[in-house]
Amino acid sequence: MSIKIKSFYHDDTGTWSYILLDPDQKIATIIDPVMDFDLSSGKVSYQSANQLIDYIKQNSLTLQWVLETHAHADHISAAQHIKHHLGGQVVIGEGIKEVQSHFSDFFNIDMPIDGSQFDRLMTKGEKLPFGSYHFTAYPTPGHTNDSMSYEIEGNLFIGDTFFHPDTGTARCDFPGGDAYKLYDSLQLLISFPDDYKLWLCHDYPDGRNAETGIPVADMKHNVHLQQANNNKQQFVDIRTKRDATLAVPRLIYPSVQLNIRAAQLPCSESNGRKYLKLPLFVDKDNR
Ligand SMILES: [Fe+2]
Repeated sequence: MSIKIKSFYHDDTGTWSYILLDPDQKIATIIDPVMDFDLSSGKVSYQSANQLIDYIKQNSLTLQWVLETHAHADHISAAQHIKHHLGGQVVIGEGIKEVQSHFSDFFNIDMPIDGSQFDRLMTKGEKLPFGSYHFTAYPTPGHTNDSMSYEIEGNLFIGDTFFHPDTGTARCDFPGGDAYKLYDSLQLLISFPDDYKLWLCHDYPDGRNAETGIPVADMKHNVHLQQANNNKQQFVDIRTKRDATLAVPRLIYPSVQLNIRAAQLPCSESNGRKYLKLPLFVDKDNR
């Protein structure tokens, strides 16, 4: 039997998480699990991640890997919660070191910037064994510098690169983002055979059901590629113009602070509580 893919949609952040399983060997990989977080109260919970954990337990699977496609800026990963309950190793692209370097400086957090919070860092073309199969890592930077897509058996888990063909592509205005690089990453993804499936990290449906598992043939008609007439500079212009209109993601500060540390929550302070930082930008003209 070939691998199976189960998709789980997180309404609050529009995120797709996945379980891949090898039914013969009873092993599983989780991709991009989400922690539930209520920004106004600071409440952390795991309804979404627990669905994945329950599925794995009910099907008597052993978790091998938790793959992160990148350090997300719009949701917090549940990688450590998953690891605590199921074991497995947390994996991300080696570009995380650069992301850690930038954001540990931004948040003034004293932390190693060598990726050591993760169990394994993937490099270009590296293969990750999974039962009778393997994942192959393809760097797909542009949205972030550490973005990595993972291919297995005609399936590509593409993180924030393409969104649904009707919706477009990922923003490139975060530190380390680069619309030129994103265009090259998109071209790489559509160079795979037409029947390969692209599994999205997000979908933001407007009046339709959330979708994922888009064949490469359909993604070639992505609205941003069409608007750009498949021209790199035109794509960059469209992307840059659109990025200038986008609001800062609601969960960016908690997400980035935690995700660069493989989603390990900060240590409790002397009063037993955990805290995150919130940068303030004071307008000098209105002091
Ligand atoms: Fe992202």
